[in-house]
Amino acid sequence: MIGKDIDLAIKLLKEGQLVGIPTETVYGLAGNALDENAVTQIFKVKNRPTFDPLIVHTNTIEKVHDFVLGMPEKAHILAKHFWAGALTLLLPKKNIIPDLVTSGSPLVAIRIPNHALTLEVLSRLDFPLAAPSANPFGYISPTTAQHVEAQLGGKISYILDGGSCQLGLESTIVGFEQEQAIVYRKGGISIEAIEKVIGKVEVKAHSSSNPQAPGMLKSHYAPRIPLILGEIGKLIPEYAEEKIGILSFKKYFDGIPTNQQFILSEKGDFGEAAKNLFAAMRTLDQMDIEVILADLLPEQDLGRAINDRLRRAAAKS
Ligand code: TXA
Ligand code: MG
Repeated sequence: MIGKDIDLAIKLLKEGQLVGIPTETVYGLAGNALDENAVTQIFKVKNRPTFDPLIVHTNTIEKVHDFVLGMPEKAHILAKHFWAGALTLLLPKKNIIPDLVTSGSPLVAIRIPNHALTLEVLSRLDFPLAAPSANPFGYISPTTAQHVEAQLGGKISYILDGGSCQLGLESTIVGFEQEQAIVYRKGGISIEAIEKVIGKVEVKAHSSSNPQAPGMLKSHYAPRIPLILGEIGKLIPEYAEEKIGILSFKKYFDGIPTNQQFILSEKGDFGEAAKNLFAAMRTLDQMDIEVILADLLPEQDLGRAINDRLRRAAAKS
């Protein structure tokens, strides 16, 4: 069931049940992070292997200190600057966080999301929420309550409706090796924005077998219909035999019905493109087409995270 009943969401979470929650990035599938039964349910409902750890969500930096042994200086600076927001920090965990949440890693991924409804829920709970994106493992992340309902509705009791996600891309994951900051997943906060605050960072978000982010399998975020990346204008004649859908950054293409074309941002705005990306992929995936042709954005700002998602979607094809 979808609704805006915060009291009900809180009641269910306190009972150890799972609730779909809105965040500014994507919707999460939330349960009590300190309750192994609830956490086990999360893995089951998502059909997610338990070697892929979960992000822990809370609402204040004070509470973060209840869950982590410490924070490097740069983590402090980033937390102060970007929380509440689309930044997840990998920090050494205290024992209170079950090993199941971190898949046995001594590090916990933690973030304060920026959504009024979810912040209120978190402020009224005496435990943090473990929440992966509320999609079946390997599929496109949900950016509306309806997306969650369509895929997990039968398996969870409630979805708190907070409208469509403002950012539309998952959080940026940052960890630390000695004092050096490392970006393990490109996301809703750009590398440029992070570097303005703490200087140069290293990016290790390419590999499909990255031990720091085991869940970042190459074929994540994938639609069912093959997605081909390249210059759309050149790809169209190559796929002339097939029914084509288009996912383009800025422009429409001749010869394909416009209702089969999705433009992320006609004015070329990265933020607008990010916000539209997953919903467009999802709609295309449900249409009567045989192939999705997509182009990449410039490798800057949020364009980098969008391209990362497009490449992962294409990797399955
Ligand atoms: O924006 C987001 O981060 C959303 C919203 C709901 O907060 N959540 C999200 O969760 O994207 P999920 O589970 O779909 O992606 C979490 C990623 C996975 O790739 C996982 O492997 C990585 O974070 N991760 C989680 N805990 C980790 C840990 N302890 N060490 C390394 N990577 C971790
Ligand atoms: Mg996910």
